Order: sequence, then structure tokens, then C-alpha cells
Amino acid sequence: MSRDKIVAGNWKMNNDSNQTKTLILELKKTMQMEANVMIAPSFTNLSIAKDLLLGSKIEVIAQNMHFSDSGAFTGEVSANMLKSIGIETVILGHSERRKYFNETDDQLKLKVDSAISSSMKIIFCIGEEIGERKNNNHFEIIYDQINNSLFHLDKDSWSRIILAYEPVWAIGTGETATLDQIQEMHSMIRKNISERYTQELANSISILYGGSVKPSNSHDIFSLEDVDGGLIGGASLNANDFNQIINSI
Ligand code: PGA
Repeated sequence: MSRDKIVAGNWKMNNDSNQTKTLILELKKTMQMEANVMIAPSFTNLSIAKDLLLGSKIEVIAQNMHFSDSGAFTGEVSANMLKSIGIETVILGHSERRKYFNETDDQLKLKVDSAISSSMKIIFCIGEEIGERKNNNHFEIIYDQINNSLFHLDKDSWSRIILAYEPVWAIGTGETATLDQIQEMHSMIRKNISERYTQELANSISILYGGSVKPSNSHDIFSLEDVDGGLIGGASLNANDFNQIINSI
């Protein structure tokens, strides 16, 4: 079964409005689209990015959202608000959100439900810490993250889920997981989904890899059987690097 190939750039808390414009104009100039390309600027730059990309196939997505529709949650942004400016996809469960903002599997489950009831798509991030891998707990950790936040969903809702396996120790460190480690985890994730649902459903889910993907390693990573693209942090801030990564899929 052919799955969607996706390359998504997670800009994190980088780029003010001027830098957003510059980077998007550079991307538009040189990008050849084989993959589905997404970029995730910060909340303040989503509308600017949407306007600049009007008519382009590059999708603008959000990095996070709150699980409530509205209410007394100072500083937060809801799915409805994102939808109202044309944002259809949100990244949830990034390890930086889990680590620095104490997001738990239970909260993420609420966010997933909110995004799905707003008909949004989700890039759901999962990943183990280095200690967990060293203790050989990595498969269990990843299973728990998926089980606790996603396995309550019905089969239809899974058409809105894209997974991103991002070992925490490989994010922003320059250290990439080995090809064997990546393929092994991706196929295990697919097996977990097939055991909970069906093989057909498992085969239809795009599973991205993230963690120090760069032009020099993206082709090898994207060639792995169970890898359907990447979630790119640092290298997505440079138009040339990001384009090379996109073209390597
Ligand atoms: P990195 O970040 O590519 O800079 O390692 C990936 C991510 O955090 O999604």
C-alpha cells in the first residue's frame, strides 16, 4: 500500500515575521514538490505564512494547541482558532512540550480528541529518552505513549493521524539514530497498530522520523521500508537544506 510521503519543518520558537517572509520566499523559489511539504511556524506567523503560500501546495501547520474550545486559559490557542485561520494540521506531543511544559499522555489524549473533533490532522510525536533506550525500555515507552494517547480512537479517526518517531536523544544533538534503530522502531510501531486494529490500517499510517535529519542523511533514512518522511527541526530553518531534504524523498 502506498502511504503519503511527508516532509514537515518544525520551526519551533524561531523566526520573527520578517524572517518568516524571507524563508518562505526562498522556499517557494526553489522547491520541487515530490513529497507533501508542511511548515510549522510559531502562532504569530501562521497567518503571514498562509498568505504568502496562498495557492502553493506547502501546508502551514501549528506546533501545538490547547484541548479546550475556549475559556479561561491565558496564553493558549484552541483548535477552533487554528481552523478559523485555515490551519488543518497540528503537531502534538513533541518531546519539548512533554519535557518543558509537562505535557502528559492524558493531556495529549484530550488534545488529540479536540483536534479530531475539529476535523484536524495530527502529527503525533513519540520518542524515548536516552536512559530508556540504554535500559532497553524503548519499545515499551513508545507503546505506552501510543496506547495512552491514541489507542482509544476508532479506526476512522486514524485517517487523521500521522506519527513521528523522534528519539529524544537525537533531537537537536546532531546524533541521528542508526538506520537499523529507526527501521526496527518504525516496524514495531506498525506492528503495535496492526495488533490493536488491522494490518490494513497499520499499513496506511505515515510514520515520520525526526531527530537531526539533514541533507547528508535524509536519503538513507527516507529509503527505509517503514519510514514515510521526516519531521525536521534545525535543518528546516535553512531553505537550501530543507529543499535538499525534500528532494531526497
Ligand atoms: P532536529 O529537531 O531536526 O533539530 O533534531 C527535530 C524535531 O524536534 O522535530
